[in-house]
Amino acid sequence: MLGRQLNAVIKAVAGRVMNGMKRVFSGVQPTGSIHIGNYLGALGQFVELQEDNECLYCIVDMHAVTTPKDPKELRKNTLDVAALYLAVGIDPKKSTIFVQSEVPGHAELAWALMCNAYMGELSRMTQFKDKGRGGESTSAGLFSYPVLMASDILLYDTDIVPVGGDQKQHIELCRDIAARVNNRYGGVFKVPEGRFLRTGARIMSLDDPLSKMSKSAVNPLSSISLLDDGPKIRKAVMRATTDSGGEIRFDAENKPGISNLLNIYSAFSGASVAEIEKKYRGAGYGTFKNELAAVVTEALTPIRTRFKEIRESGVLKEILRDGAERANEISEKTLKRVKERLGLGIA
Ligand code: AMP
Ligand code: TRP
Repeated sequence: MLGRQLNAVIKAVAGRVMNGMKRVFSGVQPTGSIHIGNYLGALGQFVELQEDNECLYCIVDMHAVTTPKDPKELRKNTLDVAALYLAVGIDPKKSTIFVQSEVPGHAELAWALMCNAYMGELSRMTQFKDKGRGGESTSAGLFSYPVLMASDILLYDTDIVPVGGDQKQHIELCRDIAARVNNRYGGVFKVPEGRFLRTGARIMSLDDPLSKMSKSAVNPLSSISLLDDGPKIRKAVMRATTDSGGEIRFDAENKPGISNLLNIYSAFSGASVAEIEKKYRGAGYGTFKNELAAVVTEALTPIRTRFKEIRESGVLKEILRDGAERANEISEKTLKRVKERLGLGIA
């Protein structure tokens, strides 16, 4: 196993250097069910990028425990996300898939970064503020969550981070911390770039098109899970909040509901919003929604089928162990460099 793994690593690294490949890193939390927002904003990009880049895709379970989680459920969700990664088309022969807590470097580097991140900048993170957190009993982990995320990224000398638009501020913070450490200690980190899509970056909730589709929403019809079946998808789409006036036209400000559905239609069908508007000119919301439900169902059915096969096949743990081995390999090198520059440990 070790020999095979080492060979694969040498090949991968040599290949990357020779082809001038970029390194890609991203992560998804194993909390709740993965929805079409996650897919259109992030996972779809993961699949596309693996063709020409060296990609590492992580299941960030340490981020999940920033708020208490049921241990059994967390482990189940971790394997579910791994299976979904494969089901949407991430290929373990091309990409490294692994679980964050299986690579100790994430926590280790996070400490060094924590000492270079400011309370002020962390307090300004909108995701933290939006959650109404910041009270006496908020965990320090939740507050410093974006520093752990910066650690995930910087640990691998990452070039590109494909994420949804909600992560923009976290990516900026990661870049700021990297630049600060580089300034203080001299060239330690590569400063990464975020990669955001135009159509899928911000899929909104179906029952409230002014807030983003979220895993933690109470109403199950506010989102569509990648594992939902046809009837559930149809129900959620048909009940989706639309706007007054029956016209199918993109206008994010005045018609946020229909605009969100147009975005979803466009992202799943590959047709442009203008083409879809033209197709449904004069048609009612009912017809449009009916066909949207069919488009989404057609896209998700093979994912659901593959997910079930993979989840039952018993291949996951082996893939995740191999992935962690490869990730450890890279991360140990970065950590050695960081410790040297910061003067940690003994030479
Ligand atoms: P999370 O489940 O919070 O770890 O998110 C996984 C990925 O999905 C991240 O890259 C998020 O930016 C992305 N994401 C989450 N919600 C949405 C959404 N409503 N629209 C687009 N992307 C999203
Ligand atoms: N914070 C991200 C989210 O909630 C998940 C995440 C953790 C991540 N570490 C990361 C994304 C590193 C990209 C890169 O969606």
